[in-house]
Amino acid sequence: MQKVTIVGAGRVGETAAQILAEGELCREVALLDVREDVPEGVALDIFQTAPFFDFDTRVIGSSDPAIMSGSDLIIVTAGVPRKLGMSRSDVLDVNLGVIDGICDNALKYAPDAIMLLVTNPVDVLTYRAFKRTGWDRRRVFGQAGVLDSSRMASFIALETGFSARDITTIVLGGHGDTMVPLSRYCTVNGIPVEHFIGSDVMQQIIERTRAGGAEILALRKNSSAYDAPGAAVAAMVDSISNNRRRILPCVAILDGEYDESGIAMGVPCVLGENGVESVVQLDLLESELKMFRESVATIRKDIERLD
Ligand code: LAC
Repeated sequence: MQKVTIVGAGRVGETAAQILAEGELCREVALLDVREDVPEGVALDIFQTAPFFDFDTRVIGSSDPAIMSGSDLIIVTAGVPRKLGMSRSDVLDVNLGVIDGICDNALKYAPDAIMLLVTNPVDVLTYRAFKRTGWDRRRVFGQAGVLDSSRMASFIALETGFSARDITTIVLGGHGDTMVPLSRYCTVNGIPVEHFIGSDVMQQIIERTRAGGAEILALRKNSSAYDAPGAAVAAMVDSISNNRRRILPCVAILDGEYDESGIAMGVPCVLGENGVESVVQLDLLESELKMFRESVATIRKDIERLD
């Protein structure tokens, strides 16, 4: 990939930019932010790490949306983060306007790009961006499940003491209290996690995963999480940029998959150079399906508020 624009030079945007540059996942990273001078400062700061990390990705910043021109990928992190005690849905009204503006600029300056949404509430805003741009659904998707899965994996690593690298997890559904961590698919190097962890402890890990973002916010006090969210974004970009076709849980627009349409939801997707190449349909158990449908209902409630 030649050029990636990250909209929002806040903490998630900055962290993602650093990892993309360091990993040389594209030739140029552009940071766009409504705050004057800030994106230039962030970009310079990151570029000045190049001699340490031995990369030559260009990093530029601007508050002029024309900087998006020629982007292959637009990553949207802009918007207000939730504060302590707020749910992700509480920031919907403010962030809706932000997303609409970004979509309009994308249509003007980078009409051939693909778009990865990170701003919360990510499920609803991914759906909004899909509608607003009118782009093919493969080109508009969101990040949540990769982060939620990494949280679940980290909790399993902490509990078992095994290498975090060996732990595979999958979290579907909305990025909120109704997310659907699928313990049945969790393994430690292929060995089902039940071999090591009893169901009571697993249930605690599931609850902790669901509240993973709130836990960080409560501890950090003045900031939402950004290290793991930035890394999760970079993992998705890596799969796209190198056309790895990894199966990653992404917020995808559903068109009949899982018997749902007109909604954006966390489901396993094949992520490649065109974006969401396909949605993987799992045969969910009745109990898993029940959680999935609850998640659908919560997201639909917010989508209805859009009209
Ligand atoms: C979180 C926010 C980024 O889960 O949604 O940390």
